[in-house]
Amino acid sequence: MTIFVTGGAGFIGANFVLDWLAHGDEPVVNLDKLTYAGNLHNLQSVQGDARHLFVQGDIGDAALVERLLAEHRPRAIVNFAAESHVDRSIHGPEDFIQTNVVGTFRLLEAARHYWQALPATDKEAFRFLHVSTDEVYGTLAPSDPAFTEAHNYEPNSPYSASKAASDHLVRAWHHTYGLPVLTTNCSNNYGPLHFPEKLIPLMIVNALAGKSLPVYGDGMQVRDWLYVKDHCSAIRRVLQAGRVGQTYNVGGWNEKPNIDIVKTVCALLDELRPRSDGHSYTQQITYVQDRPGHDRRYAIDARKIERELGWTPAETFDTGIRKTVQWYLDNPGWVANVQSGAYRDWLQKQYEQV
Ligand code: NAD
Ligand code: TYD
Repeated sequence: MTIFVTGGAGFIGANFVLDWLAHGDEPVVNLDKLTYAGNLHNLQSVQGDARHLFVQGDIGDAALVERLLAEHRPRAIVNFAAESHVDRSIHGPEDFIQTNVVGTFRLLEAARHYWQALPATDKEAFRFLHVSTDEVYGTLAPSDPAFTEAHNYEPNSPYSASKAASDHLVRAWHHTYGLPVLTTNCSNNYGPLHFPEKLIPLMIVNALAGKSLPVYGDGMQVRDWLYVKDHCSAIRRVLQAGRVGQTYNVGGWNEKPNIDIVKTVCALLDELRPRSDGHSYTQQITYVQDRPGHDRRYAIDARKIERELGWTPAETFDTGIRKTVQWYLDNPGWVANVQSGAYRDWLQKQYEQV
């Protein structure tokens, strides 16, 4: 048996592939376009491992996907491939529509054709697992209950709108064609291999480089943080036992305002890699202009996945964030590698600083 993973050179996808191969011997075919966010260094430890086949390509390339499915005959597809950064979606939404909407559509079509031709028992066992986000549900007021799977879709950014569209396509391919799909909607992830355009790795990398720590608006926007390995274990569990056609919200019960996250990162760095002048890294915090349309609060109600599938996160925020900061301190080579010209151009565009 084999699984087919898309976007497996990105942050969550690479963590998933590494964890998958650490938990068993089932091979993985990993299709990734290697955009700025995809990095083969993330997969260095499985280079040469016969259980891992990497293919550079686009989920929107129907001929390529159909050929790979026919050749490797996977029992499941796990779709991580996406454009994933809200700020980039504000500057340039086109790529988000292309990959997240059109790409998912093409992947679904290729999956449907492949699945329809499978022998009965393989057809029955096949799964298409779509990895999505809590951002499709929109924003919450401070006292609103957390998002359940029944919450309305109210996406507010080009990113979340494109992910919402992809979720709807996945749902429709199940209802119309019977494709055996599963969807997970997860809260904000953090951990190793996180590209330093997102809040937590950006703060770690900027702090160590002596740069400012740009907090948008008042810094009181709330996100619900989950350690990436816990997201990976949730996906493995949903793939194993999720009910076909169902959606599972995945979260860490860790709601925190951004400014608290930034101060926690600073405190850990003060402890683990103190500044040479003896001052705290909090001195580098700078409040900058807010993101347009910035969602105020996300929070996931993860009771369904716990009740039905027995999944709970293994890490608390305290244990996960310490591991994460330590990982960045231990892997300066990885950080240097991803800080290419394209990365520097992005910082210039978004923050007018380098
Ligand atoms: P990422 O940006 O780090 O990685 C995305 C990967 O997809 C990259 O390796 C990229 O090269 C690849 N890719 C992009 N376009 C492609 C295409 N057309 N064809 C093939 N590959 C392509 O993203 P991530 O943070 O790892 O997120 C993975 C998935 O999880 C996304 O679908 C995202 O919406 C979802 N998600 C992310 C978070 C989070 O906090 N990061 C939370 C919930 C859900
Ligand atoms: P991000 O990591 O981009 O994830 P998302 O927007 O998908 O939740 O941002 C997390 C939060 O941190 C979000 O409220 C925006 C905020 N943020 C900053 O305050 N400064 C920054 O430089 C970045 C990248 C994000």
